[in-house]
Amino acid sequence: MDQGRGRAVVRKLAAGNWKMNGLRAEGVALAEELRRHCAATLPGCDLLICPPATALTAVGAALTGSPIGLGGQDCHEAPKGAHTGDISAAMLKDAGCTTVILGHSERRADHHESNALVQAKAVAARAAGLAVILCVGESLAERDAGHALAVVAQQLAGSLPPGLDGATLAIAYEPVWAIGSGRTPKAAEIAAVHGRIRRELSGRVPDPAAVRILYGGSVKPDNAAALMAVPDVDGALVGGASLVAADFWAIAQACA
Ligand code: 13P
Repeated sequence: MDQGRGRAVVRKLAAGNWKMNGLRAEGVALAEELRRHCAATLPGCDLLICPPATALTAVGAALTGSPIGLGGQDCHEAPKGAHTGDISAAMLKDAGCTTVILGHSERRADHHESNALVQAKAVAARAAGLAVILCVGESLAERDAGHALAVVAQQLAGSLPPGLDGATLAIAYEPVWAIGSGRTPKAAEIAAVHGRIRRELSGRVPDPAAVRILYGGSVKPDNAAALMAVPDVDGALVGGASLVAADFWAIAQACA
């Protein structure tokens, strides 16, 4: 049981978000190195890597037969059509993805993605058979104003569509100020947000205890074990450290 809360143990998830990094050859080399580390399924942790769209097919081929899954970083809300430069959920699925990250703070900021748009994308992802990693997280100003819990609850309420469950949904709590900064919230602050997310899931999914709630933002090999020990933390969404195979592997082992 988890932390004495009466919650059944779920397999953790270590997901690497490569963001806009890596040409195909670099991505394949990184995937092959990771694969050498990860010969067999880890006992307590699933692994997923989310390369840029141009490298998906090549990285997917390099992962064939390995326990490491492939994910996309975003998809369009429409199934197809006149949307220059965009990529559909079905295209991600066709490229070998099982999962897509949606609502990342960089997309919310760089592309002005609203909660409603993220929700529409999640509906599209599910229609194409993809699982969703839905990202939420407060800015530094919002945290300093004491609004972190309310902001995260509002993002969740606005961007989570009905019809998802523990098999098709993970939530990633990524405080915007912790991403790429080397700073992380205190354990108690993470526990408070993850606990709030878990409560918000009640009534919105049939099995709130089964939904994995990941922490993301400056997860590194030297802080991963402490972060994974926080109540209601069910894995990590890793940016920079996922670009170094040994570091991502160390984080995955801390999850397992
Ligand atoms: P860093 O691990 O580089 O802080 O990035 C976190 C993140 O944004 C993952 O989606």
